[in-house]
Amino acid sequence: MPYDRAGSWSPEAGMPAHARADAALIHRLEDDLRDHMATVRPARYRHSLSVARTAEQMALAYGVDPLLARVAGILHDWDKVLSPREQVDLAVRLGIDLGVDMDLVRPLLHGMTAACHLPDRYPDLPAPIWQAIARHTVGHADMTPLDAVLFVADGVEPCRRDVPAVHEVRELVDARAPLEDVFWSSFRHGVSYVIATGRYLYPGTLDTYNELVLRRGTTQG
Ligand SMILES: [Fe+2]
Ligand SMILES: [Fe+2]
Repeated sequence: MPYDRAGSWSPEAGMPAHARADAALIHRLEDDLRDHMATVRPARYRHSLSVARTAEQMALAYGVDPLLARVAGILHDWDKVLSPREQVDLAVRLGIDLGVDMDLVRPLLHGMTAACHLPDRYPDLPAPIWQAIARHTVGHADMTPLDAVLFVADGVEPCRRDVPAVHEVRELVDARAPLEDVFWSSFRHGVSYVIATGRYLYPGTLDTYNELVLRRGTTQG
């Protein structure tokens, strides 16, 4: 039975060194997230931990690095603690320019801002994590498997209500449908939701949608 140096039983004491390092990293980031978010945004904190676990599970199923997926999930909504004004101000300060009034695209900004400034706090974490976080609100025509895993996990983690759109994506995940098909379903439902609720649709999202339609060869419906 594994024991740590103090003589207490520890499930991590019997792990190989690299697995212990991975577990320590996850614990450190989860502690940081708790300090940053648990009091001010408790539901968002629970969501973040849930996205992280869902992303890790999806990563294992789809041959993606599960540590990167878990870490990206933990950190993806870091800037959700900011007020709407603070989110826009931070994006402007960081030089983010989406070519439209920033207030119109405010819900999209938190991924991009976090991807800009969190590398200063965590310089040892690799770039693919920041790209996945930047893309989790907007998607991209060239999503990597890690990008897609975080994007989809964000929408289907167990705290999300099982409305029909979420249910459909969950069924695709459960059936191990190709990751690009799962992402396409999740992305499409996101666009549909924006339109169905009469919100502003960021032109870049429409461009991504059209690009994906052309690549998938579904222009004739
Ligand atoms: Fe988010
Ligand atoms: Fe999220």
